[in-house]
Amino acid sequence: MSKKLFVVGVGPGNNKYITDIAREKIQLSNYIVGYKYTLKIIEHLFDKNNQCIYEVNMKNQEATYQNIYKKMRDGEFCLIPFTGDVNFSESEVVDRLLEIFGDENVEIIPGISSIQIASSKSRVPIDKSHIISFHVTSDIKLKKIELIKAVLDRKNVILVPRPWPNNLSKNFMQSDIAFYLKSNGIKTSEIDVWVFEYLTDSEKERIFRGKLSDLENKKFSDLSVMVIDQNNRQTYLEV
Ligand SMILES: C[S@@+](CC[C@H](N)C(=O)[O-])C[C@H]1O[C@@H](n2cnc3c(N)ncnc32)[C@H](O)[C@@H]1O
Repeated sequence: MSKKLFVVGVGPGNNKYITDIAREKIQLSNYIVGYKYTLKIIEHLFDKNNQCIYEVNMKNQEATYQNIYKKMRDGEFCLIPFTGDVNFSESEVVDRLLEIFGDENVEIIPGISSIQIASSKSRVPIDKSHIISFHVTSDIKLKKIELIKAVLDRKNVILVPRPWPNNLSKNFMQSDIAFYLKSNGIKTSEIDVWVFEYLTDSEKERIFRGKLSDLENKKFSDLSVMVIDQNNRQTYLEV
């Protein structure tokens, strides 16, 4: 039996959104490796006497994944939790884990994404929305064009912005998005928008609702999802 990896979605900000299968895999694992924020969501499930827990950050994650892979014996399990759904806006790391462990040794367990929670709260369905993650390290030029096109096509857009604390010129947060759309000829004062901060966090969750133009010079948390709401409700009685 080879070394196995579970890549698991948890949260996105509250342990009520941990699925039973995620719990099961957490309990089965010998090694658990994650970012501080994500580990916190599942820490009540750890058995610290029998599991090795590693906290990683962007700088040390590569070395840690490689060290753990070397240290693991055949038949052991490692688990890496991701906030929300593993299959949304996590591929830069997940693709690397697939390279290290090999596709056949990795099981991906989906979670509940922050964009699903934002969809529920705004009542804007995902299947009637264009979904964009700006939370990537690669160039976002084409994604920005995709955004303009979706808004001009009168689609809803559910997006995660790009915080880049060490290089503000790379930021693409709510205010930048509002200015960018306005500078591309979009009537931002006529388009409804929602911003959801700290979703599912019972103490910190905040909801902003207004027009796109209201976002200019407004600051929101890095942990936020934005919904451009151009929704047209249509029931089965109308089709
Ligand atoms: C790398 S992406 C990961 C998204 C995650 N996989 C998901 O499905 O929600 C990180 C971004 O997701 C958004 N996000 C994650 N959890 C959130 C929460 N609890 N509330 C608001 N936004 C959240 C924020 O925009 C954050 O910067």
